[in-house]
Amino acid sequence: MSDFQQAFDNPPEVRGVWSKKWDYRAETTGVADVQPMWIANMDFETPQPVKDAVIRRAELGIYGYTAVDREYHEAVINWQRTRHNWEVREEWILHTPSVICGIQTAVRALTDRNDYVLVQPPAYHPFFRLLHQTHRRVLESPLLDRGDHYEVDWADFEAKLRDYRPRLFILCNPHNPVGKVYTPEELRRFGTLCRQYGAIVISDEIHGDLTLPGTRHTPFGTLGEEFAQNAVICTAASKTFNLAGLHLSNIIVPNADLRGRMRDALTEAGFPAPNLFALVAGNAAFREGAAWLDALRDYLAGNRALAESYIAEHIGALHTYRAEGTYFLWLDCRALGLDNAGLEQFLLRDARIWANQGHIFGKQGAGFVRLNLALPRAQLKSALERLTQAVNKH
Ligand SMILES: Cc1ncc(COP(=O)(O)O)c(C=O)c1O
Repeated sequence: MSDFQQAFDNPPEVRGVWSKKWDYRAETTGVADVQPMWIANMDFETPQPVKDAVIRRAELGIYGYTAVDREYHEAVINWQRTRHNWEVREEWILHTPSVICGIQTAVRALTDRNDYVLVQPPAYHPFFRLLHQTHRRVLESPLLDRGDHYEVDWADFEAKLRDYRPRLFILCNPHNPVGKVYTPEELRRFGTLCRQYGAIVISDEIHGDLTLPGTRHTPFGTLGEEFAQNAVICTAASKTFNLAGLHLSNIIVPNADLRGRMRDALTEAGFPAPNLFALVAGNAAFREGAAWLDALRDYLAGNRALAESYIAEHIGALHTYRAEGTYFLWLDCRALGLDNAGLEQFLLRDARIWANQGHIFGKQGAGFVRLNLALPRAQLKSALERLTQAVNKH
């Protein structure tokens, strides 16, 4: 067994550190010992070189104003080049404390109140929230449910662009919650239609490094100049290396006009320079985290294979959707015949699993749950066993 796998199997216990995932279980769910499989945080320790770099910097005891050094940008650029074959220029990179903040900035900078913004439910729920908060209108082109995977409804997608003229399309690739990784052909088709009807593409690629082994992620910026010039591409080290609490994302905008408008919106909102420790951690992660990431992807694939085969074998009533990326399992629980509140309570109280309920991703998700598979395999197994017993009892 590799050292990486050993570490994934035995992460440190996270208690009493204000962890959103672990420390508020009883007060949030009413069940103290639930297995948290909801929020998109992994239970694994970040790569050792990242931890070492943060500790080294912390030991200095001087935490004054810090510049975003070229060294950090070089790490970002080199990562996109070597992992994803994308040549990013330094001046294209903007920084926000989070990807959602980057998307919200794009919405404010590039659209007006009451404009339509196109999304594809089941979709990452904060997209809906941020559009409501900024008084934009949500325009939905739901993915087509094919029973064990999803496809784009191209006729509907084009009709929505043509009939409503949304100013933006928020693409999520890999797609949270269903784990779909779009092909270059699909992405070009999105890009072509959006150019034709005048919508800018916001490509949320926060899970781009987390494809299953054998599946390639295609950054929207690699499709060709005309597509890159019509896009805002949202990336971060946060999901890849489990650094979400440090708050830094890299929003890559090749088009100078769009970038200028986004920069103005960031200035107007008063965002400061990035957090020192986020820069230190991100720099170390992009420079020294590749081997860890490859081991992680193998481990996550192992967890997914286990969950899929276990559910197929032991829990005939539930069925899994296949995914090519993310660490989420999209699980169809409709056969249990429970409403939204009933399904949530069933999972919490009977299976002692804290999941994301599918309906929060749009009404198409009702009866589904999203399970986070980034946990030690032994804990996954015991969650699956409890789920089996609960379903059998039900
Ligand atoms: C698709 C997607 N976008 C954005 C985010 C949030 O990232 P951030 O914390 O950087 O806003 C998540 C987190 O789960 C996500 O899954």
